Amino acid sequence: MNIPCDMLVFGGTGDLALHKLLPALYHLHRDSRLPADMRILALARNNLNRGSYCAMAEKHCRVQVARADFDLTTWQSFAERLDYFAMDLAQSAEFGRLNKKLGDACQRGRIYYMATAPDLFAGISANLAIAGLTDSNTRIVVEKPIGHSLESAKEINAAIGSVFSEPQVFRIDHYLGKETVQNLMALRFANALFEPVWRAGHIDHVQITVSETLGVENRGAYYDHSGAMRDMLQNHLLQLLCLVAMEAPVRFDAEAVRNEKVKILQALKPISGLDVQDKTVRGQYAAGKIGGQEVPAYYFEKNVDNDSDTETFVAVQAEIDNWRWAGVPFYLRTGKRMAKKCSEIVIQFKPVPHRLFEGSQANRLLIRLQPEERISLQLMGKSPGKGMRLTPIELDLNLAQVFPQNRRWDAYERLLLDVIEGDSTLFMRRDEVEAAWSWIDPIIKGWHESYQTPRPYPAGSNGPEQAQSLLELAGREWHD
Ligand code: BG6
Repeated sequence: MNIPCDMLVFGGTGDLALHKLLPALYHLHRDSRLPADMRILALARNNLNRGSYCAMAEKHCRVQVARADFDLTTWQSFAERLDYFAMDLAQSAEFGRLNKKLGDACQRGRIYYMATAPDLFAGISANLAIAGLTDSNTRIVVEKPIGHSLESAKEINAAIGSVFSEPQVFRIDHYLGKETVQNLMALRFANALFEPVWRAGHIDHVQITVSETLGVENRGAYYDHSGAMRDMLQNHLLQLLCLVAMEAPVRFDAEAVRNEKVKILQALKPISGLDVQDKTVRGQYAAGKIGGQEVPAYYFEKNVDNDSDTETFVAVQAEIDNWRWAGVPFYLRTGKRMAKKCSEIVIQFKPVPHRLFEGSQANRLLIRLQPEERISLQLMGKSPGKGMRLTPIELDLNLAQVFPQNRRWDAYERLLLDVIEGDSTLFMRRDEVEAAWSWIDPIIKGWHESYQTPRPYPAGSNGPEQAQSLLELAGREWHD
């Protein structure tokens, strides 16, 4: 925006605002990346004033920001940007009060960040318009999941679209802000080496895993109506799949990149009816141990139904029906309360056509997003000494070690800066979100029609056994 702008965070006392957005804004402020006069107004129902909100924000930022990065003087100058406004976000009349509160600030650009439940997005957008708080200098940021099905996503997109034009809408998926995810594009499109082998003829299969040790924490009420499919796979994992599979865009800009991603989503082979049982696995964590600590079963978590059949784990065998990828399985899996926190993409190449040596294995490219950012290529080499004894060796790039001088940015820092600068390359377009739901809906329908309940898995494990069988039946195994 080329006029001064402010950010309004709806849901300003929620986990997302306190754990992610404010720490990211603090870092950007500290690094002098925020526009000098940008103000941040948090909005929520809680009866707080500016002072008590700042105290709450400081308490959380002290926990979320690394000790070495937090200092009181910087915090105090950051806190000067902060303000708080108590309002009921579901009440139309309250937006008139908000307009009065903003006063002259209405002449400035405004970014509306929806850090609320998705069912409030449409109402808030409409109420902002009715209160005269939208114009060409406003932008809206919405968090995933957008809706819980294709139909509800369309309704939300239409409601937002009747107030904001598409370039004003930033649908955030924080996985796209992760350093290694962008590195994946650099790896594919800035190195000639991979392109000739990045296709069905050379790649046996692809695995995308996002496993977490955390349970549902304080989010039981949301999660129990969402589950792993809607919370993670519909967005984060499908976005990763798009970046692995998409064709090279003609330019690195919002339209060109998103045009290519949407083609992949549209090419996903539908999974419905009986296929749902063969190609998907749902799981739910039972009691178990994480890091030596006993943790309860999912259905004992706060705000979760005690006969809940919500999945906390899902694995899917996806296929992309296009020229490059026909016949290559993309195995996706994500789960909570798993053995370790790890997000990674594995590209498993085919073996050499004729084996000259005993013990030769196929090459594997590993792209790890977290806990460490790493790209590693497994090759076969000869063990030193006499004879041709082969052994796997790694070309291993730990990105934190390659760039030791650079602080690792949190995904939200990068994405918030993109919103301020109006760059939507790393945000989801309306048709992308809808294409993703079109593929997901029949799977969820298939689960309900077959009365498929989630398979239990002990907390601290790698998920239900059936997820192993998904690969084993094809003579493959998960990279663990
Ligand atoms: C969020 C999900 O989008 O991503 C959470 O709603 C999940 O359930 C989180 O825990 C995982 O993000 P990250 O960056 O920790 O892998």
